[in-house]
Amino acid sequence: MAAILTVAAQTTNISTDQSALLALKSHITNDPHNKIFTNWSTTTAVCNWVGVTCGAPHHRVTVLNLTNMKLTGTIPLQLSNLSFLVRLSFKNNSFHGTLPLELGHLRRLKGIDFTYNNFKGIISSWFGSLSKLQNGNKFSSSISTTIFNLSALEIINLSFNRLSGTN
Ligand SMILES: *[C@@H]1O[C@H](CO)[C@@H](O)[C@H](O)[C@H]1NC(C)=O
Ligand SMILES: *[C@@H]1O[C@H](CO)[C@@H](O)[C@H](O)[C@H]1NC(C)=O
Ligand SMILES: *[C@@H]1O[C@H](CO)[C@@H](O)[C@H](O)[C@H]1NC(C)=O
Ligand SMILES: *[C@@H]1O[C@H](CO)[C@@H](O)[C@H](O)[C@H]1NC(C)=O
Ligand SMILES: *[C@@H]1O[C@H](CO)[C@@H](O)[C@H](O)[C@H]1NC(C)=O
Ligand SMILES: *[C@@H]1O[C@H](CO)[C@@H](O)[C@H](O)[C@H]1NC(C)=O
Ligand SMILES: *[C@@H]1O[C@H](CO)[C@@H](O)[C@H](O)[C@H]1NC(C)=O
Repeated sequence: MAAILTVAAQTTNISTDQSALLALKSHITNDPHNKIFTNWSTTTAVCNWVGVTCGAPHHRVTVLNLTNMKLTGTIPLQLSNLSFLVRLSFKNNSFHGTLPLELGHLRRLKGIDFTYNNFKGIISSWFGSLSKLQNGNKFSSSISTTIFNLSALEIINLSFNRLSGTN
């Protein structure tokens, strides 16, 4: 398994990130202010898409920030292909459904903000597999204690969602 993952990591590039973001776009069902439907076009380099920041040294997507865009939709499995992601914010939209467990594979992720959405359910499971927590705390007691095993995540904010249900 480790060998397979290593090969995959070596063969991904910015096209991988573009595919992941296009998958997310295809899972957005409402974009009333046309923030991304027009902007996230393959005629433009992905690093110039609104809400997307690329970083050195690999020139891969490091920040995805969709704060305050009034988007409705779900989060697809493919988002876990953004393997260089450091910051992720869906704050203040209407994303719903569950978060893919595979997001736990994003080993560089340090900040997550899912506040003011309608996520629910299985969130606790993937916290346990994120591996970089430095400072995560102040979570609802309804979230599994495996969350405290994160070793690098600095900021995670899940307020104003419906996380109290069991998996
Ligand atoms: C990304 O890698 C694929 C093969 O894995 C290749 O076909 C494609 O041209 C590469 N894209 C860029 C932008 O380097
Ligand atoms: C997409 O949005 C970014 C940031 O607002 C802007 O710089 C860029 O010109 C836009 N691209 C298109 C094709 O609308
Ligand atoms: C995300 O965008 C919001 C508003 O556009 C901004 O206030 C916030 O600082 C950004 N966060 C990150 C991590 O870039
Ligand atoms: C959410 O975003 C909308 C704009 O899309 C803004 O008017 C509203 O103040 C924001 N709410 C919060 C809690 O940030
Ligand atoms: C992206 O993710 C999907 C679903 O997890 C996977 O099937 C696909 O092989 C991935 N693509 C790349 C280039 O890693
Ligand atoms: C935390 O991680 C360590 C090492 O990966 C493991 O041995 C331990 O069981 C984990 N604790 C919890 C609560 O998951
Ligand atoms: C989480 O987000 C809510 C709403 O924006 C805010 O009131 C709260 O202070 C945040 N918590 C942390 C730990 O940042």
